[in-house]
Amino acid sequence: MPLRPPSPGAAARGLRSVVPVRRRLPLAGRTVLVTGAGSGIGRLMALGAAERGAARVLVWDRDEAAALAVAQEATSRGAQGVAERIDVTDAPAVAAAAERAGEVDVAVNNAGVVTGARLEDATEEGIRRTFEVNALAPYWLTRAVLPGMRARGRGAIVTVASAAGLVGVARQTDYSASKHAAVGFAESLGAELRKEGSPVTSLVVCPYYVSTGMFDGVRTRTPALLPILRPEAVADAVLDAVEAGRRRLLLPRAVGLIAPLRALPGGAFDAAMDVLGVNATMDAFTGRSAPTAPPPVFAPDRAAR
Ligand SMILES: NC(=O)c1ccc[n+]([C@@H]2O[C@H](COP(=O)([O-])OP(=O)(O)OC[C@H]3O[C@@H](n4cnc5c(N)ncnc54)[C@H](O)[C@@H]3O)[C@@H](O)[C@H]2O)c1
Repeated sequence: MPLRPPSPGAAARGLRSVVPVRRRLPLAGRTVLVTGAGSGIGRLMALGAAERGAARVLVWDRDEAAALAVAQEATSRGAQGVAERIDVTDAPAVAAAAERAGEVDVAVNNAGVVTGARLEDATEEGIRRTFEVNALAPYWLTRAVLPGMRARGRGAIVTVASAAGLVGVARQTDYSASKHAAVGFAESLGAELRKEGSPVTSLVVCPYYVSTGMFDGVRTRTPALLPILRPEAVADAVLDAVEAGRRRLLLPRAVGLIAPLRALPGGAFDAAMDVLGVNATMDAFTGRSAPTAPPPVFAPDRAAR
């Protein structure tokens, strides 16, 4: 029997069987937990979730006053806002807080820190802290909330990584490496969930620079292609992606060029990144003052509710 190429219809059916279905997750009536929600993108995602009709918005941050203020704002937008003062690197504290939180439909691993130091200028504490917050903390929260999501048959784990999780950047040996780890975490988790046929999804978010203050001083050489993003637009895009059941969000779309450019021979990929100005972006970086300072120690029973 001669072999025939599959008909277009059969090919489309075959493709549909391997391309996972998107599990939409409208936020209305749901519980949304956001770490690092005291400021920046996290704050805007928490408030955006409230505006989209989320029933409860759990605002986690190491900054108690900021968490309380955002929880109040979420409440004024129609959700029940609940503030929790927490250091996301404290795995037992995260597990206990997740227990207190009850049902969580969407958990956003958003808390992040950056040193902006060259390798030889970086401190051991700063490097460790960067990995603890950006790379390890998502494990502790995700492990705490995933069993409940599985049991209820719905949920989304969102990991706010970075475009620096897809390409190394000068003055980011700690940050970029920790975000590569976050991308690997979120993709591997998604693969595990898909393999099991789980309805829970893993969404990884990789934004270029965002004007929140975290990366104060950075510059872009190619604003038409790689603009500094507005935090409102990023927060909105993440919430849209959650509701649409997406698994990967690259912002702006030009960040998607990194993967095909890696197929270039020799040092051409590095040259392309230099032409785009990627390795000059951090030259005037100042960031916020003492961004990697550990939070003050607090007793769990003092957590703001
Ligand atoms: N701003 C950017 O240019 C940019 C670009 C790509 C990705 N990101 C990522 O987006 C996320 C949000 O960043 P942002 O720009 O809104 O920054 P931000 O500094 O405004 O917000 C980060 C929040 O995380 C909190 N936080 C830090 N360490 C914590 C800890 N141990 N426990 C609890 N909370 C902690 C901070 O208090 C702060 O409220 C981060 O993961 C960041 O790496 C930011």
